[in-house]
Amino acid sequence: MTTLISKEEVASLVRPTRLHKRLYLDPDVFELEMERIWGQAWIFIGHESQVPNPGDFFTTNITHKIPVVMVRDKGDSVHVLHNRCGHKGAKLVESRQGNVRGAFRCPYHGWTFRHDGGLLKVPNESGYDSTGFDSSDPCYSMQSVAQVESYRGFVFATLSAEAPDLKTWLGGAIDCLDNLCDRAPEGEVEVAGGVLRYEHQCNWKFILENLNDTMHPMVVHQSVVQAAEDYIATLPESAVEQRSEAEIIPPFGSSYEKFEDSGITGFRYGHHYDGGKTSIHADYKVLPAYHDAMVKAYGEERTREIYAFNTHNTLYYPSLTIKSAVQNIRVVRPIAVDRFVVETWSFRLKGAPDEMLQRTLLYSRLINSSFGMVGPDDHEVYRRAQEGLESNASEWVEFHRQYGRDQVLEDRVIGGGTSDLDMRTQYKAWQEYMTGEVFQ
Ligand code: FES
Ligand SMILES: [Fe+2]
Repeated sequence: MTTLISKEEVASLVRPTRLHKRLYLDPDVFELEMERIWGQAWIFIGHESQVPNPGDFFTTNITHKIPVVMVRDKGDSVHVLHNRCGHKGAKLVESRQGNVRGAFRCPYHGWTFRHDGGLLKVPNESGYDSTGFDSSDPCYSMQSVAQVESYRGFVFATLSAEAPDLKTWLGGAIDCLDNLCDRAPEGEVEVAGGVLRYEHQCNWKFILENLNDTMHPMVVHQSVVQAAEDYIATLPESAVEQRSEAEIIPPFGSSYEKFEDSGITGFRYGHHYDGGKTSIHADYKVLPAYHDAMVKAYGEERTREIYAFNTHNTLYYPSLTIKSAVQNIRVVRPIAVDRFVVETWSFRLKGAPDEMLQRTLLYSRLINSSFGMVGPDDHEVYRRAQEGLESNASEWVEFHRQYGRDQVLEDRVIGGGTSDLDMRTQYKAWQEYMTGEVFQ
């Protein structure tokens, strides 16, 4: 347990309109974040569709040092277990995903474990006779993490027994997960098309701060927007496909006024989204075959309602960010104070024509991947921030925009789309988690 930093010291690093640079540079602050934020919050593990059959598993980390495995058992329940052998602690499962037909088998001394983590068999067991060893003691199993819950197929886990239930924790931000799934005519989504992994050479919080930072796109992405607009101008009217693909880029150069209109909504525990009534995804063309499938499933009025809730990025602080209107998600995994990995997963809308998945995959490649046209711009500025903050100039970074103008409602705070409401929301939660007061 990290005890190098006192509660008062932690609290003093976050002020109403500024943050101390230690948040991005100090390895002790990072270790404390892993223990108090990542070790207490509900962390997104994976989607149930990644483990469709009994014995299917998927491995990830819940904090930088704690490996876990998500596995489906024969009774169709999905578990999240510590990826640790109950004997001498070896990490049991090394592959990212696969299937264990019968049981997990430790590569060291061959202990085997059921899909629910229970100890199945110890080789040459007679050596334990009359030693006091009790094979039914859960400490010898692959232990479950403290709490595991799934919402519409999205599996979260927490190392904290004190965290409230998942729905309570998601609060009003749950609307965005619902909207992502409701955009499927069958009301369900499934992972499709593989994963894009992108390692960033900077602190994990930069990507969360950037999600609803609408003061940056017209600057950071200016050159790619210009290039896309120039390219579109060369296309003949008949180049419908190329045009619709290239048209994904220009909204990133939208005006300050347009981003201001989209608004930002913040919730307890650090969650927030931009958009709602409108977003940079609002002008996407609706494919006729998709619209027909939606109307058949929901009726005209409900279909319009689903389209009308148009968000851009939603953050479920600290590990998951989703784009409901585009059907992809990004999963954040810190590694060190100046390194993290972000994974982009794309989703198929069940009951929708294949073109919808193709559009999602195209978006993921163009915008989020390490070889894309937008994500690398963002990475460049995060890396520069990490580098610049090492200087011994000011010790603080600021976030004053529209301070004092947020509108506080019963379960949410709303404000202008170019405000720093998202920063205020996540750093309020940061402070609560870090001082140990978050679930009190
Ligand atoms: S460490 Fe796993 S069986 Fe010994
Ligand atoms: Fe960006």
